[in-house]
Amino acid sequence: MSTILISGGTVVTASGTLDADVLVAGEKIAAVLAREVTGAGGTGEAAGGVGDSAAAVAADRVIDATGKYVLPGGIDVHTHMEMPFGGTFSADTFETGTRAAAWGGTTTIVDFAVQAKGTSLLATLDKWHAKADGNCAIDYGFHMIVSDVNDTTLKEMDACIAAGVNSFKMFMAYPGVFYATDGEILLAMQQAARSGATVMMHAENGIAIDQLVAQAIAAGRTDPVNHGLTRPPELEGEATSRAIVLAQVADCPLYIVHLSARQALAAVAEARDNGQNVFAETCPQYLFLSLDDLARPDFEGAKFVASPPLRSQEHQDSLWRGLRSNDLSVVSTDHCPFCFKDQKELGRGDFSKIPNGMPGVEHRMDLLHAGVVAGQLTLPRWVEVASTTPARMFGLYPRKGVIAAGSDADIVIYDPQARQTLSAATHHMNVDYSAYEGMELTGKVVTTLSRGRPVIDEGTYAGSTGHGAFLARGLNQYLV
Ligand code: URP
Ligand code: ZN
Ligand code: ZN
Repeated sequence: MSTILISGGTVVTASGTLDADVLVAGEKIAAVLAREVTGAGGTGEAAGGVGDSAAAVAADRVIDATGKYVLPGGIDVHTHMEMPFGGTFSADTFETGTRAAAWGGTTTIVDFAVQAKGTSLLATLDKWHAKADGNCAIDYGFHMIVSDVNDTTLKEMDACIAAGVNSFKMFMAYPGVFYATDGEILLAMQQAARSGATVMMHAENGIAIDQLVAQAIAAGRTDPVNHGLTRPPELEGEATSRAIVLAQVADCPLYIVHLSARQALAAVAEARDNGQNVFAETCPQYLFLSLDDLARPDFEGAKFVASPPLRSQEHQDSLWRGLRSNDLSVVSTDHCPFCFKDQKELGRGDFSKIPNGMPGVEHRMDLLHAGVVAGQLTLPRWVEVASTTPARMFGLYPRKGVIAAGSDADIVIYDPQARQTLSAATHHMNVDYSAYEGMELTGKVVTTLSRGRPVIDEGTYAGSTGHGAFLARGLNQYLV
């Protein structure tokens, strides 16, 4: 069994920082060897399995991490590789998308299998396994999108859970595509509640939005900015509140995906204060980009079309606050890339035909680190929202999401001083633009290990297609 000693770094976990060396043996972390504890939060999780650095054994390889952070690999629980949507497919395959993820310090993705109307959940799952199997550079799991609620589908939810997929996304948006009625949502929530599964909700009032969209098009308001103007934050707030009430009636755990509006956050915070099993994620695009980007001239705004839409700036402060208060527990990317050329361009002259989605799987850790640099998040909270909580929420902990003896050696060595400029010319996602073109950041991944194997090795790709394995997931560990 080969061994790696990561020496000299600062181990960062959700509960603190620790000056420690990390010994990797094969696919697992063998020991966390304390050198010297620093800072108020310097004990706790990182100390699980802590040994004495003097006991360090000779390793096959020593990685010098002096001056660097040693992090549990990022876990992005919201991606869409090769997703059929908006008359086309998202541009990253499992191969290109997982490679890009590793470049950015993400070592696990949870992608969405998409049930097409009239098809079965299990056939859908098979299809997604066929897309991913043998193609991923890092480990992966699946959620299931339920778009056709009927007796067969409801029964199949249990079979999905047995197959390691215990989270089901439903849509209050996109009538005629993924949309489910309140009655259908209630039935699926009741089934999920019986089986210990979590329902994930795309909470926008799609029926009302479609009326606003039709009015805008009829009035000749066809530019991309109208995507944002026809999906007002109040309709995200309303749908979020409605989803929370339905979940309360069904006694079902609820996870609001890609939350963007302060109205929706207020509804989540109230439910959480009331002790309900309600959780939410936001995404970097809602923390860093705004309606102004959707309003860029010459159809450039199409690059920023995603749903829910980018919001006006005042929502960003609320979201950062929500991350600190834990009303927002997770940051995922909702990575759903469409090239500007030929894909986003499908909506020239009619914003409603622009495929919805933005690229981001590569830059989540870096953008959140920018939040650390700006004083919006602490270092442990960065790790918590990007790795540890996603692992716990989606049944991967403690195999993933922590640097501790016995956990998978999914480890990121991160240089907090390195400078980088985000650009389509240098990113690794299979998409012809960057939503953050020209943004200068401090901090960069140096090395990414997936189960002990270097995927990114001191700034060079060293991974192999097919190394990534499917992860059957267990229970949400936050249920009260
Ligand atoms: O616009 C988005 N968010 N596209 C991906 C599909 C979804 O709703 O998550
Ligand atoms: Zn969605
Ligand atoms: Zn999504």
